[in-house]
Formats: sequence, structure tokens, C-alpha cells
Amino acid sequence: MAKFIPVDTFDLVIFGGTGDLSQRKLLPALYHRFLDGQIPEDSRLVAASRSTMSNKAFREFALEACKNFTGETVEPEDWAKFEKMLSYISMDATDPDADWDKLKAQLVDDDRPTIFYLAVTPKIYVPICEALGKAGLSKGDARVVLEKPIGTDLESARAINAGVGAVFREDHIYRIDHYLGKETVQNLLVLRFGNTLFEPLWNRTAIDHIQITVSEDVGVGDRAGYYDSAGAVRDMLQNHLLQLLCLIAMEPPNSVTADEIRTEKIKVLNALRPVEAKCAAQETVRAQYGPGTVDGKQVKGYLEELDNQDSKTETFVAIKAWVDNWRWARVPFYLRTGKRMRSRHSEIVVQFREAPHAMFGEEQAHSNRLIIRLQPDEGVQLYVQIKEPGPGGLRVQSLPLNLSYAESFQLRYPDAYERLLMDVVRGNLSLFMRREEVEEAWEWVDGLLDAWQDAKVPVYTYSAGLEDGPVEARMLLRQDERDWWSNGK
Ligand code: BG6
Repeated sequence: MAKFIPVDTFDLVIFGGTGDLSQRKLLPALYHRFLDGQIPEDSRLVAASRSTMSNKAFREFALEACKNFTGETVEPEDWAKFEKMLSYISMDATDPDADWDKLKAQLVDDDRPTIFYLAVTPKIYVPICEALGKAGLSKGDARVVLEKPIGTDLESARAINAGVGAVFREDHIYRIDHYLGKETVQNLLVLRFGNTLFEPLWNRTAIDHIQITVSEDVGVGDRAGYYDSAGAVRDMLQNHLLQLLCLIAMEPPNSVTADEIRTEKIKVLNALRPVEAKCAAQETVRAQYGPGTVDGKQVKGYLEELDNQDSKTETFVAIKAWVDNWRWARVPFYLRTGKRMRSRHSEIVVQFREAPHAMFGEEQAHSNRLIIRLQPDEGVQLYVQIKEPGPGGLRVQSLPLNLSYAESFQLRYPDAYERLLMDVVRGNLSLFMRREEVEEAWEWVDGLLDAWQDAKVPVYTYSAGLEDGPVEARMLLRQDERDWWSNGK
């Protein structure tokens, strides 16, 4: 049984309260935490946005969201208690002269934390924070939550960080990367540092290379407008994949406090080798999905979905990255992410070196591999060599020691936002990004985008529904005599 420790009473204001994020993630996450008894009933959840809506209409909207996105039946008696906490306010939060008193009237004026969740476009983070400051709402224990992407490049990220930082203290700013809230991602720390088995081997002497894959079967859907200005690099690589890389590559922190963890992650980002134009074509691949078949259904290509034949935005990126430090010298990190691939799966593959002496014959498998499956079918597999049973010679097979989370823990897997929202209330910053982390990541990503431009790296096309994306991504590893891991290969 999971144990849930209730948090203290809090007030939460969601700007963009009727938007997609609020509907799909935040409201269902809050409802789940409430059902588990973690949110005290005298907390306040206020949704704010420009559209005019009554409290009643918003509660109906929230009920639909919870019905559709919690994956559970919403019982009327539970809902009746939950909806009492909900209210709605129509306002332009970027306007310092808006009726902020109306919002203040919805909040409870005691020493409880007040959390402002900005589920809006990053372009208006600073104006909203300035307006909050002017309205006197950034004082005391006020906290602000920022969704990724924080900016579109280093310059805009710095401007956001400076603007928000002029109103809120750094330790009251929660920069969300929802991958850090995933159970399996948090488990990376425990797996690496809670076991004595791995750490002595976790370096260039034992590890040949590491692969990080985040593959999605969905296309860009109704987010085409945003996505076309972002692409896979800004949408996924700058944040989710680099965060995974940090957790895999970082040195052991002295403790699991926010600052110790974040300091170690920043060191990894600092050590990332900038991508130079002269290597860009050889060490990176960018591509766009064309039409194809996903899950038995014919789907449109990116350009058709966008209705713009000129877009060069990448929906897939693969890169051979290097962490230039003592531990990881000459160990490539192959990262890839793409939309409209064959399936949705995210995993990290740690490929160990071959045994130094092939005593069972050259053609026999003889290297270990650790697969950390982040989603779906969360778990860890350690491939070891064993003798195939039976007489008639000594044949070696590589088979996994299998730790399946579903079999080991019969629990519902909480969504990342459930954990992250409760951490904001608790004031635990460990799973949120510090200012320098975001800026370091942008600096590296800006370098990659510049290198693509300078070297005129082509945008390849792949048919939607392919397992590995474009053939060029396969070549990226083949040129090093390696292959992407895919189950059952
Ligand atoms: C978001 C990206 O941050 O992560 C989306 O903006 C992407 O484009 C999503 O689909 C993937 O998250 P998950 O949790 O479904 O792997």
C-alpha cells in the first residue's frame, strides 16, 4: 500500500485554468491527490483565464476533465467535496490594472502558501509576474510555477528568468520538467546510488555507450502552431532528454537535497561538448515525418497536418553527444526523440563493454546491457549471458533479469503532475530546474541549432510509423558499428 502524507492547506491559482494542460493534467492530478486524502478540504483551487465563465460552468468543465482524464469513475459524493474547493475568475492576468482585488478576495489571507501556476505561453510569464508583484501577491510564501519551455533560446530564457526573478525569490520559483516527476525517472537516482552494484562500473572503463530514446506515436495534432516554432529540439531535447542525460551522467550528489542534485546536473550540462558545424552532419540527424501508417491507421505527414509545405521544422532528432569529463571520456551518448514513430516508449540503454576475452567464441553474445524502461511497462532489465540448456556444445545466450514495476508493485502509477504539484506545496525543489540549468541547456541547444544552420544540415523525411525514424538515424550508429536497441533484436 502506498502511504500518502497530507500536505498543509494551500491556495492554488492556475492562470490558463481552462487550457489544455489544466484540463488534461492539472485538474485530474489535483483530483487524484484529493481522493487519496492528500489535499486538505479547506484549500482553494482558483482557475483564472480571459474567457467569461461562471463558477458553476467551470466546475462542470473540471468534472468533465476529471471524468475524461483520470482514467477512473468520478463518484458523486467525492466530487461534491472536491468541487467546493474550485472557483473561477475571468481576468487578463497580464494587465496590472485588472481587478486583482477580485482574485485576492478568493484567496485566504493566512500564512498558507499561495501558488501561482502559469499554464500559459512563456511569452507572458514576465508580464503576469510583474502584475502579481504590483498587486502585492508575490509577498510572503507566494510561489510561482513555470511550465517548460522556458523561452525559445538562451536570450529569451535569460529574459524570463530575470523578469520572474525580479518578482519572486529563486527558491520560490518552480520550473517544471514533467519528466522529472515520472516515477521511473526519479528511480534513476535510487537505482544508481541506492545499489552498490552499478557505481563502480558506471564509467568509461565498463560502459561502451548509452542510448536515450523518447519515442512517440502521436503527431503534432492541434498544437501545430506552437510546435512549428519549436520542433523536437526545443520541445523535447532541450528539456526532457537533457534532464535524463543529466541523471544518468551526474556524479553522486552528497545528499538528495534540491541544491546538491541540481548542482551535479549543472556540471553535466557544463561538460556537454558543443556541437560544431563541421561535425553536425555526421553526428546529428534531423527529420520530419511524412505520411504513413501508425497502429494500422493511415496518417498525414507533418507538412499536410500543418498545411504548409515550406516548414523545415524537425519532428525527429538524433544526436551523438559527448560529456567531456573524466568519467565519460570517449563514451558516446546517443539521444533520439521523434513524433509519429511506431510506438510510444521511452527508455535508457546502458551498453556495457564486451568481455575482454571471448572464451566462448567470437560469435557468442558477451556483453551486458542495462535497460531502464521509463514508459510504458516501467521496469529494469539487466541482460546477462547464460548457457543455453542441453547437451551438444556450449551455447551462450543473452537473457534479461527482469524487474517489472507492474508485477512488483500493484499500484496505480501516479501521473508526474501529481507528484510535482504536491512537491510545490511542500516546498521541495529537488525535481524542479534551477535557473542556470535551464540556461546551460539552452546554450548547448542554441549551438546545435546554429551548427545546423551553418552546415546546412538537411531535414530528412521518414514515413510515419517507422520503428527507428529516418534511416539516417540508423546510419548514425551504424557508422560506429552499433545499433539502436529495440526489444527482441
Ligand atoms: C511535452 C511535449 O513536454 O511532452 C509534447 O511538449 C510531448 O510534445 C510530451 O508529447 C510527452 O510527454 P509524455 O509524458 O507523454 O512522454
